[in-house]
Amino acid sequence: MKNIYKNSTQNLNKAKKILIKNNVIAVPTETVYGLAGNAYSNSSVKKIYKIKKRPIKNPLIIHYYNLKSLKKDAFIKDEFLKLYKKFSPGPLTYILKKKKNSKISFFANSNLKTIAVRFPKNKIIRKLLKNLNFPLAIPSANLSSAVSPVSSEDVIDEFGSKIKFILDGGNSRIGLESTVINLSNKIQILRPGAISNKDISKVLKKKVSFLKNSNKLISPGLLKRHYSPGIPIRLNCKKMEDKAALIVFGKKYKNNKYTFNLSKSGDMKEAARNLYKTLRKIKNLGFKKINVVKIPNNKIGIAINDRLKKAAY
Ligand code: TXA
Ligand code: MG
Repeated sequence: MKNIYKNSTQNLNKAKKILIKNNVIAVPTETVYGLAGNAYSNSSVKKIYKIKKRPIKNPLIIHYYNLKSLKKDAFIKDEFLKLYKKFSPGPLTYILKKKKNSKISFFANSNLKTIAVRFPKNKIIRKLLKNLNFPLAIPSANLSSAVSPVSSEDVIDEFGSKIKFILDGGNSRIGLESTVINLSNKIQILRPGAISNKDISKVLKKKVSFLKNSNKLISPGLLKRHYSPGIPIRLNCKKMEDKAALIVFGKKYKNNKYTFNLSKSGDMKEAARNLYKTLRKIKNLGFKKINVVKIPNNKIGIAINDRLKKAAY
């Protein structure tokens, strides 16, 4: 595909040039692929919302190379530093208070008093961030409420040739979006991910829980319907519906053309990595409905079940 660019110094320089002009590119991260633009530029951030058809009230995550580059934009506190030392760079997003004189475009954080920040671990996006003198606003590279992409081909599946430059990094290693933790007032997990509430509780030496379904839109990405392949999904199935695609997990299931196994060996990390690929594949094969067996609800399984529940809504 002519809009896919392999990791090379030359292509990283091309990517940099496009971003400096406040245009948007697709980039790999260890969680999912994203649409990246200059977080300090209104015009760049507006383009991201437009391409994704994302409601302007749903703020973006700002991606930084390191702590030093963040200090101008957000207030740093103790809990943040503890978690940063342990988990960053990596799949954890922190909600922090924004500094008044920060240059972050008010479109990027939907004009809130807080910003979401992440330090991605993927080597390619890190090289790019290191070479820029602004952070990148990077939401997942899918149309609003659709399934997130975990490869360059998935980005094309979402947007066709609309994205002119996709920086290729192979398959995303984790395959689910980062854990989002609110540190701006009551410490709470707003979105489960590869880093679990237990991992976080251990570092902070106190119990950190999930935000309970509330009517207040603390994290607008927590909209009830999300990650949707656009066809009905039934969860915790024991019996399969006629002609439905069946998503299973573990070795007791037989292979056939209706069955899609997230991990034959019962490995939760592998299941997470395969989830979005599988949903996309089933949809593209033309199935009209999906049945999912019960998936264990611990560690990254909590994040898998969270996404399935929202995809099924
Ligand atoms: O793994 C990831 O986080 C990926 C990769 C590309 O880095 N990005 C991602 O971005 O998942 P997005 O835009 O698809 O999800 C961002 C989530 C949304 O649920 C949004 O509402 C929430 O973060 N968020 C952003 N800023 C926030 C803020 N100031 N307060 C509360 N929630 C916020
Ligand atoms: Mg998203």
